[in-house]
Amino acid sequence: MKTVALLALVGCAASASAFTINFVNKCGFTVWPAVGKAPYGQPDPSVAFGTTLNPGQSASFGVDDQAIGIRAWGRTGCNASGANCQTGACNGGLVCTDAGITSGVILSEYGYGDFGQYGGQRTAWDLSHVDASINIDTQLSSSDGQSVLCRASNCPADQAYDSSTDYAADRNSPLGQTFTHTFCP
Ligand SMILES: *[C@@H]1O[C@H](CO)[C@@H](O)[C@H](O)[C@H]1NC(C)=O
Repeated sequence: MKTVALLALVGCAASASAFTINFVNKCGFTVWPAVGKAPYGQPDPSVAFGTTLNPGQSASFGVDDQAIGIRAWGRTGCNASGANCQTGACNGGLVCTDAGITSGVILSEYGYGDFGQYGGQRTAWDLSHVDASINIDTQLSSSDGQSVLCRASNCPADQAYDSSTDYAADRNSPLGQTFTHTFCP
């Protein structure tokens, strides 16, 4: 009986887990990555991350597996405080206060989904440049082996949303993945 109780406990702990967004800057210039939360387009500043990545640097941020409306993108040409960015700008400074809802650039998106009999609880994810510019060539890979790639020079519809009904760009993975968001892959 003790073994059964222990397994149940481990099961509970696993359900309150996180996925990880790992930013990698392979560009020859500085990128200021940002993460925000805006379910149904409504900014929720309870999830916000921002940092500075010089060429070759990387940084990670953990997000609750049950969250929806998570968005991550890269900013360029910011000032020394991480504000006044030329692309991908948001309200706030190094850490955005508006989830970058008007950033106007390619982003990665993540959200909890229960696929029921078709796979249970998963993270749905994608790249999207709907009504937005491709300010930085971007690759998004999940630790289960899936990967999408969007370059300004070539960004097929099955790699990134270019209209809001482009479902060919949709991907999903088991909870708890590490997603690697690479700038200039
Ligand atoms: C960067 O821009 C912000 C917003 O205009 C300003 O408040 C801040 O002082 C600037 N930082 C530097 C180091 O110039």
